[in-house]
Amino acid sequence: MTTNIAVLVSGRGSNLHSIIDNIENGYIKDARITVVVSDVSDAYALKRAEDRGITDVFVDPSDFENKIQYEQEVLEVLEDHNTDLVLLAGYMRILGKGIIEAYRNRIINIHPALLPAFKGLHAQEQAFEYGVKVAGCTVHFVDEGMDTGPIIIQKCVPVLDDDTAETLSARVLEQEHKIYPEAVKLFVEGKLKVEGRVVIRR
Ligand code: GAR
Repeated sequence: MTTNIAVLVSGRGSNLHSIIDNIENGYIKDARITVVVSDVSDAYALKRAEDRGITDVFVDPSDFENKIQYEQEVLEVLEDHNTDLVLLAGYMRILGKGIIEAYRNRIINIHPALLPAFKGLHAQEQAFEYGVKVAGCTVHFVDEGMDTGPIIIQKCVPVLDDDTAETLSARVLEQEHKIYPEAVKLFVEGKLKVEGRVVIRR
């Protein structure tokens, strides 16, 4: 059975790009991206979706009175596309209860730090400024907290003496583009089991 994937984005879309590539090159089998949803009208990720022939939808948060109503609209888009798996790929909003409950353990996020360190925005800069010697990225299921859900894969990246926040971010991003498709492949193949906050690979 084919897994229908919806991807939520807000910006550049390089992680979206790597997921699309890995479906097209056969690394992730039996999956298709049915819709890309953005909360930002000019997100480059929307153009990437269009270029690859994927339906893209902009849902304008300012059209709604509150977050609950905005997310209800996003949820309808997900349901209209028979979504099995939701991927957050640079989606810069914290998901509310409605979507999380509808897709419990079926929403995955990529975060550019080794969680639980450096949650929230600008995680690579936070890590760089803190002076860590090892940075990295995390793919995790999404729960009600901010960047707190069960961890699927993490990858370390060394911090070099001549790094800037930008060079470090670029090195982390390279690894994001590897571990996100890897986690999606594991999910699609039914190899991830969540026990409490621990993800077991079977
Ligand atoms: C990525 O580095 C992703 O890890 C990060 O935003 C960037 C999006 O890049 N996500 C977060 O910080 C979520 N808290 P992309 O649009 O090129 O994939």
